[in-house]
Amino acid sequence: METLRGFNTRAVHGGELKDPRFGNVMTPIFESATFLNPNYEPNPYMDRTRNEPYLYTRWGNPTVQSLEEKYAQLEGTEDSMAFSSGMGAISASVLGNFGKGAKILSVRELYGQTYTLFSTFLKSKGIEVDFIDVDKMNAVEFSADRYDMVYGESIVNPTLGVLDLKEIGKACSESGTPLFVDATFATPFNQNPAEFGASVVIHSATKYISGHSDIVLGLSGFSSKFKKGFYEARKNLGASVDPLQAYLALRGMKTLGLRVKRQNETALKIARELSQNSHVERVFYPGLEEFPYHSTAKKVLKGYGGMVSFEVKGGFQEARNFMKNLRIITSATSLGGIESLVTLPVDTSHKSLSREDREKAGIKDNLVRLSVGIEDSDDLMDDLEYALGKMRS
Ligand SMILES: Cc1ncc(COP(=O)(O)O)c(C=O)c1O
Repeated sequence: METLRGFNTRAVHGGELKDPRFGNVMTPIFESATFLNPNYEPNPYMDRTRNEPYLYTRWGNPTVQSLEEKYAQLEGTEDSMAFSSGMGAISASVLGNFGKGAKILSVRELYGQTYTLFSTFLKSKGIEVDFIDVDKMNAVEFSADRYDMVYGESIVNPTLGVLDLKEIGKACSESGTPLFVDATFATPFNQNPAEFGASVVIHSATKYISGHSDIVLGLSGFSSKFKKGFYEARKNLGASVDPLQAYLALRGMKTLGLRVKRQNETALKIARELSQNSHVERVFYPGLEEFPYHSTAKKVLKGYGGMVSFEVKGGFQEARNFMKNLRIITSATSLGGIESLVTLPVDTSHKSLSREDREKAGIKDNLVRLSVGIEDSDDLMDDLEYALGKMRS
């Protein structure tokens, strides 16, 4: 749409379902499992997935469709689809588009459940996944033409290495291999992987996109070629979104730009301060000049994000003690909400990995992952300093 240029304008107005007969300003929640069939209305609203009137909510629903349209406008993709979770979107992206005998190349540093899906579940279904680390992927030490798809997280969970989507995207498009990118940590405000040639973008919208830690939802933006695969997977596997959840994501997305801008700023301040703290061994943050992926981050990100990871001095128990002494920042898994959360990946997001696989992914027992919320930065810093000050090591 000509008038919807800026990110925040698209976030507020994109995809909203307005009907002049009602004069509604906001998209309504269509809690209807089923729709008139046949629908004799001469000019009915259409389910975009089939270009026919709506029929059944597992297939398509007006509120869900509004969410998909708003998201596609923010992501800059030809099409998009919503799923019952981020994992629903990831599994649909693979199972909907590839079958037995397919070969995938993935970055090794992945969200724990994605790693398990790729290394165990897909393998049992005859889809083979090879893993390489972020550095090798960034140096394009792989032959894309040996694979049916290349997969990566654009900022990896939880060590925050940054994929060089410019180089990887170039290598993939030269060989005609589709690139699938989970950009959950980057958010559509900081990065649009389609600009680097990604065919499919995936988000756990549970995180920044909905932004309030109150729903579980997934989104994928893709080029039209992949529409059928996603649609068939969602319909057959049943990873569809409830309209109320879609509404909450739609509402959250309106403030995505405001929230992430502030989270980018606060996270950078916190990362800088943490790197000066004597109880902290090492800080991982794409915006720090000394971080090994900073120059890549400058190339592929418009903002460095709200996630900061750091290793505290000592081991697992010291890290746990530190977290126990926090008074504002809550100890819980997940990320991307308005409230700051802290977790030990060894205890939560990457618990399902073997110690060996965690070591390969660079995840130590004393690694803390902080999701910076929208609270006042001085309060967050005071909280971190207080809890770090209570540590013995
Ligand atoms: C990077 C990343 N991708 C995907 C997921 C899965 O999303 P969901 O929990 O919404 O299924 C997560 C969850 O933490 C994640 O961190």
